[in-house]
Amino acid sequence: MALTFTDEAKRKIATLRSRYPDPQAACLPVLHLAQDEFGYISDEAVGLVADAIGVPHSHVWGVVTFYTMYHQHPTGKHTLMVCTNVSCMLRGGYEVLEAIEKKLGCKRGENSADGEFTIVEEECLAACADAPAMISGERYFLRLTPELAMRALEDIKKMPPDHGHQPPSTIAKARKS
Ligand code: FES
Repeated sequence: MALTFTDEAKRKIATLRSRYPDPQAACLPVLHLAQDEFGYISDEAVGLVADAIGVPHSHVWGVVTFYTMYHQHPTGKHTLMVCTNVSCMLRGGYEVLEAIEKKLGCKRGENSADGEFTIVEEECLAACADAPAMISGERYFLRLTPELAMRALEDIKKMPPDHGHQPPSTIAKARKS
């Protein structure tokens, strides 16, 4: 079945478009809306967003592939964005990331088999003073250690999903981004 925005999403897109004289400026918020609606930004969703705001598909594609917050494949209920850039690396970011990978049985860029988590390695989360840092949903987890990361996973499981998510059978087949 062809992908389509709900009527409510269409209303929100019209509102977003009216806020910006340049339709390209609406690209980021409309992509967020699309990700909430569909769970991830597929090729079809790229076209849908481009047509909805009246910009070239290539522009939307460029935005989606530039920002790691947009997912191009089905994700778990919770995305774990783990920073390994310099400040975090120096303070144990890789140890945190590897502990999470070991616990969940999947690597960065992959989904856990139970469909709960997707691990994303991040460049910087703007929390360098409190490294190592991770974001899940809208929540920061700071000054992590491998042990604190394990506790964070338990907390995150109790949080609502980040956005619309796919059935577990679809998630398990998701490939690395
Ligand atoms: S280097 Fe990790 S938050 Fe900036």
